[in-house]
Amino acid sequence: MEVLWKLPKLTEDPSWKALDRYYKRKGDELNIYEMMKKDPARFRKLSLELKTPSDGSILFDYSKNRIDEEGMSLLFNLARARRVEAARDAMFAGERMNFTEERAVLHVALRCRGGAPIIVDGRDVAQDVARELRRVKEFSEQVISKRWKGYTGKPIEDVINIGIGGSDLGPLMVTEALRPYAVGPRVHFVSNVDGSHLAEQLRRADPETALFVVASKSFTTRETLVNAESARRWFLSKAGDPSAVARHFVAVTTDAEKAKEFGVDERNVFRFWDWVGGTFSLWSAIGLPIALSIGYDNFEKLLDGAFFADTHFRSAPLERNMPVILALLGVWYTNFYGAETHALLPYDQYLHQFPTYFQQADMESNGKSVVRSGETAAHHTCPVVWGTPGTNGQHTFFQLIHQGTRLIPCDFIAPVRTHNPLGDGLHHKILLANFLAQTEALMKGKTADQARAELVEAGMSGPQLETYLPHKVFKGNRPSNSIVFKKFTPFTLGALIAIYEHKIFVQGILWDINSFNYWGRVELGKEFAKVIEPELEGDAAVSSHDPSTNGLIDFIKGNF
Ligand code: F6P
Repeated sequence: MEVLWKLPKLTEDPSWKALDRYYKRKGDELNIYEMMKKDPARFRKLSLELKTPSDGSILFDYSKNRIDEEGMSLLFNLARARRVEAARDAMFAGERMNFTEERAVLHVALRCRGGAPIIVDGRDVAQDVARELRRVKEFSEQVISKRWKGYTGKPIEDVINIGIGGSDLGPLMVTEALRPYAVGPRVHFVSNVDGSHLAEQLRRADPETALFVVASKSFTTRETLVNAESARRWFLSKAGDPSAVARHFVAVTTDAEKAKEFGVDERNVFRFWDWVGGTFSLWSAIGLPIALSIGYDNFEKLLDGAFFADTHFRSAPLERNMPVILALLGVWYTNFYGAETHALLPYDQYLHQFPTYFQQADMESNGKSVVRSGETAAHHTCPVVWGTPGTNGQHTFFQLIHQGTRLIPCDFIAPVRTHNPLGDGLHHKILLANFLAQTEALMKGKTADQARAELVEAGMSGPQLETYLPHKVFKGNRPSNSIVFKKFTPFTLGALIAIYEHKIFVQGILWDINSFNYWGRVELGKEFAKVIEPELEGDAAVSSHDPSTNGLIDFIKGNF
């Protein structure tokens, strides 16, 4: 990893300058559809197929991007010049990639099949991982088989996960995505400190059959602890007997002492480690709700899928490496075309939390503006990541993507097979047709001549046609990636998530930032909230802030 400290400033790197010259020379003229027509082999050249052992292939089509082979070659040169491969190998080797907190970044160790030792600070953490996975397996099997009983002897019917950020979004996204595989109790998620979030769950919960999972890496996050305390108070108000808590509360954390202080029975504390970033922790015991929902065997398949992606990332040459290509294309649009956002568009309703999950995973990791040296970045870093499942997006924001003034690179993701072949498969056929049509339409657009011909065909003419015409033109040349799976299974979902995790890692290396410290996220806001929270007490007017904040506080207090 030492080599990363000796690299030139990114924008002064010859490989970056070569890209910049290429962009200045070709950036405006590159037309996706023209290139597609000119080179019939473009799809074959600019697509990858990852063959999984038993879940079909993953097709990654990046041919509908505003770049040609020369540009791709320059991007791969950038990756080599910025030592992406060395950084990748350093991460897998447990080096301290989180260079400000001096920590290893080893979420890959959580799913490393094969049991080879993984040494962190002189300790083989692979054994620790295996031990906690066994505990997750044992516990989830006890609950699903109904051998685990509540304080009145009834089995668990509802699991309520209390956590926020990576202690919420990972298990939430995966349990939603893998609903067709649910075999265990219903799983619910409470994260917001807004009392309504917990209240809505408690209103429906039965204390005799509810299990609370208090998930917090630090076990200091105020929202989680306040929610957990309220949940315990509610439970005790129903159960009465404090000893009943042990049957209905478990914890997942790196700090077992704090969990015990909260009142979770030591035997119910599942552990993970500092070298697991919160945003990448779903593969650890933070994934307990996943195992409780879909069963441990399917949770294991999720890990297997991620391991498959890890192996691809570690072994595929850059030119055939899906996470690397996704990362490089993201840099191409962000840093050369000036794209400010990136859309994740899963054409699968079960993946409705996928964009939200990667809002944290991407923007909390790479939403940084200080580079390795401590200087302010002379380049943009993480774009705004957003999205929603198709086809809904087509009825909300696709207007902007098609005819807006901004370039918005899109990742379209779809399964060939559905879990719900309604209407003899008609629903899914329509979904897939729209998935395919959108990427084609974004590329092709609609010329003025085509629009004119359509309006004439519709019987329009004269001034009315001339008025309509400019509004009916689609410039096209809007880039997209298409990622197609045979079917979303625990394995393929695990692979997809890990592929995107590695894309985030590669972009962090390219942008020369630390993707693994999370100081910006709540630190500053948390400090300010600590001051304001007590000021909301009592009737005294507040004057310790700026006029706006004082005015807001006084309005709120005046309306309590
Ligand atoms: O969002 C900030 C953050 O620290 C995330 O990184 C983390 O996933 C979340 O808050 C919750 O933190 P914890 O798991 O320590 O409660």
